[in-house]
Amino acid sequence: MLDRVLQQIDDDLPASLDRLFTLLRIESISTDPAYRDKVAAAADWLAEELTGLGFDASVRPTTGHPMVVAHDATATAGPHLLFYGHYDVQPVDPLSEWATPPFDPRIETVDGAKRIVARGASDDKGQLMTFLEACRAWKAVTGKLPAKVSILFEGEEESGSPSLVPFLRANVDELRADVALVCDTGMWSRERGAITIMLRGLVGEEVTISAADRDLHSGMFGGAARNPLHVLSDILARLHDADGRVTVPNFYDGVAEVPDDVKAIWDTLGFDADAFLDTVGLTTPAGEAGRTVLEQIWSRPTCEVNGIIGGYTGEGFKTVIPAKASAKVSFRLVGDQDPEKVRENFRAFVTGLLPPDCRVSFASHGGSGATRLPFDGPFLAGARAALTDEWGIEPALVGGGGSIPVVGDFKRELGMDSLMVGFGLDDDRIHSPNEKYELSSFHGGIRSWARILGQLGG
Ligand code: BES
Ligand code: ZN
Repeated sequence: MLDRVLQQIDDDLPASLDRLFTLLRIESISTDPAYRDKVAAAADWLAEELTGLGFDASVRPTTGHPMVVAHDATATAGPHLLFYGHYDVQPVDPLSEWATPPFDPRIETVDGAKRIVARGASDDKGQLMTFLEACRAWKAVTGKLPAKVSILFEGEEESGSPSLVPFLRANVDELRADVALVCDTGMWSRERGAITIMLRGLVGEEVTISAADRDLHSGMFGGAARNPLHVLSDILARLHDADGRVTVPNFYDGVAEVPDDVKAIWDTLGFDADAFLDTVGLTTPAGEAGRTVLEQIWSRPTCEVNGIIGGYTGEGFKTVIPAKASAKVSFRLVGDQDPEKVRENFRAFVTGLLPPDCRVSFASHGGSGATRLPFDGPFLAGARAALTDEWGIEPALVGGGGSIPVVGDFKRELGMDSLMVGFGLDDDRIHSPNEKYELSSFHGGIRSWARILGQLGG
């Protein structure tokens, strides 16, 4: 039976691609209010697709962007699975760096391999469509799914998931399943699958420092007036010490060393740090001293400045001392680091460094703790077997440097573990210009989910 499903997937690949392209054309940028209708259009399109597949699907409004929820009850046995993906995407800027328009998907061939180029191709529209297409194939061949499947598609993942927890709380009984399947992570390599068992958490903060009550002439006042841009840069520069450690007091509370047995597994993976950096034009690890690159991205917390705003940045030149300056700062968290404590400690640290005449204000951009999943269990075993069958080699059990807040929220709100299986690659340029998804990721991803559904459905 599985063979027929896989054959169906292979035969239907061109049509699957057409459907993905339709979704990729919808400009569902969640963080920018100007795209609100586009985000809604993506939700509507997905709900229609799911309805067409026989799911009981609906678009569910929230105070932010809508959720898409769908249920299929054709299975006669097996566990209840809740699949999660997000249909929103990151902004496209800088637009001028895209070789072709970001919402005009195309196939490009590089070194003989085909890839899909568009914003959201890898994060996360291509990924969520792998599951949908796997369901389509099972239905086409058998008329049903091998397990009871529910689906939750979110439209706010890239902007901090503000509506997610209230939505989960309001729909506990509808959404609770035996396990969540989350498709928003990567493969180990082009040829080898991966199951992600740890992810970092995230704290987002925006800090604004102001001094004089207006912008000033930098000749008339320069030397006498406090410059908020200087104050801000000075404080930002003090966030790390010379060894790359974060200096915010108590920041490392809850950070544990990776156990030796886990490190031993990582050592067998054959990670090539030089090649990893080389894919983005870098040569030298810049993080905490004395840590391998894998540790730096998987198991160590960080502080990054993501944006600085202030002063005159237009064409030409303006001799100004700005009245205020601000920065967007994020922290990646590991282990038991508490997002709200990190936020509090950061705010106290900044406030403590303020010179006279300066005021500071803070805005939160959300927070979520790190995730660590069990190394065993029946669902993990089933997924391992399925991925081994598809790729011809055991999947790597990996960490991930990014954050997927829903995984922690599923655990806390619904008591549900997640199985994180995804098909992105490190060089997919997610969040960057010219984002792409390998055709082998899309095709192999659909086949992988078909196998996982078969395995878990038993
Ligand atoms: N798909 C990523 C998360 C990811 C990236 C996992 C790389 C593993 C490896 C996700 O869509 C994402 O970018 N999340 C944001 C979360 C934030 C906006 C709350 C992130 O990690 O910055
Ligand atoms: Zn994503």
